[in-house]
Amino acid sequence: MTESAATRPPETAAAQREMIRLEGVSKRYPGQDAPAVDDLTLSVLDGEIVVLLGPSGCGKTTTLRLINRLIEPTAGRILLGGEDVTRADPDELRRRIGYVIQQVGLFPHMTIAANVGLIPRTLGWDKKRVRARVDELLDMVGLDPGTYRGRYPKELSGGQQQRVGVARALAADPPAMLMDEPFGAIDPITRERLQDAFLEIQARIGKTIVLVTHDLTEALKLGDRIAMFGEGAKLVQYDTPAAILAEPADAFVAEFVGSGAAMRRLRLVEVGSIELGPAGTPAAGTPAATVRADQSLYEALDAMLRAGAETATVLDGDGRPAGAVSWSAIVRQTPDPGQ
Ligand SMILES: Nc1ncnc2c1ncn2[C@@H]1O[C@H](COP(=O)(O)OP(=O)(O)O)[C@@H](O)[C@H]1O
Ligand SMILES: [Mg+2]
Repeated sequence: MTESAATRPPETAAAQREMIRLEGVSKRYPGQDAPAVDDLTLSVLDGEIVVLLGPSGCGKTTTLRLINRLIEPTAGRILLGGEDVTRADPDELRRRIGYVIQQVGLFPHMTIAANVGLIPRTLGWDKKRVRARVDELLDMVGLDPGTYRGRYPKELSGGQQQRVGVARALAADPPAMLMDEPFGAIDPITRERLQDAFLEIQARIGKTIVLVTHDLTEALKLGDRIAMFGEGAKLVQYDTPAAILAEPADAFVAEFVGSGAAMRRLRLVEVGSIELGPAGTPAAGTPAATVRADQSLYEALDAMLRAGAETATVLDGDGRPAGAVSWSAIVRQTPDPGQ
C-alpha cells in the first residue's frame, strides 16, 4: 500500500489528533520463519474506532498485544498521544489502555464487582471510590449493579459477561481501548444488540478504539476506518468502509470483501423485498441517496456510501418514492458468518 494511505486521516476528522501510532512495527516470534507482523505503520485518531480486519492468523491479535506491550516488538516504535511508549513501563501503560481479550477473560473466582474494580484497586483507589466506579460502569453497560455486583461470571450469560469485560476495560477511564473479537463468541441476535449498545456507549464516551474482527459485516457496522490485513499483518488497505467497498485496493481485498456470505446475500436480495421505513424528505443540506426497488442491497449500500448518507429513498417502478432503506436495516440482512 502507499505511504499516504497509511497516514491519511479521514476527511471528517482532519483536525483530530493522533492517539495511537505504530511506526514500522514488526514482530517475529522465536522459531518462526515469517514475521507475525511485518513493518506495520498505522495511525489511529483520537475518538475514532479503527477495525483491524483480516483472515485468521494474519496478525491481528499480535498487533493489539504489541500496542499495549503484552509482547515486545522486534522492530519499530509505538506512540501513544505523541509519546514514544516503546520502552515505557508496561504496567503503567496498560492502565492507559483498556483491553478486552478474545475470550472475555473474567476471573471466575472473583465477583463481577471484583472483576470490574481490578485496575482501580491496583491503582490504590479507596473502597468507596472503587465501588462507586463499579456501579457506574455496570449501569453504563446495562447491567443493574444491585443484581449483578455480587454474582460470579458463570452466573451470567455470554453476552452479559462480555458487557462486564467492556466495563472492566473502561474502569480506569483509559483514553484508548483495544478489543479483540469482542462479540465473536456470542450468538448473532445478542451480538447485534451488544454492537448497538457498544456504539451507544462509544457515542457518549468517545474513546479511541482499536477493534479486531474477521467479520466484514461487523467491521462495516462499527468501524470509522477499517485496516484490511493480508497475510503476515501486511496492511493492504486503510480507509473508510465506503472506500473499501467501493474501491478495494487490490485483488485480495476485493476477494475478501466480495466473497463473504454477507456480501453474497447483499448482492442477491432486492431492496424492495425487505421491510422499508417511511420515505421521508431529507432535511436540507443532508446528503441524499436514491435506489430503485429492484436494485440489490449491495447497490443501495454503495449508493449510500458514495453519497455519505445513512438512508436511501427507494423508488418504485414508476419512479415514485416507495419508502426508505437505512444502513442498519441493510447490515441486519447480512447473515452470521458462522452460518
Ligand atoms: N506466542 C506465539 N508464538 C509463536 N507464534 C505465534 C504466537 N502467537 C501468534 N503466533 C503466530 O503469529 C501469527 C499471527 O497470529 P495472531 O496475531 O494470533 O493472528 P490473528 O489474531 O489475526 O488470528 C500466526 O501465524 C500465529 O501462529
Ligand atoms: Mg486473534
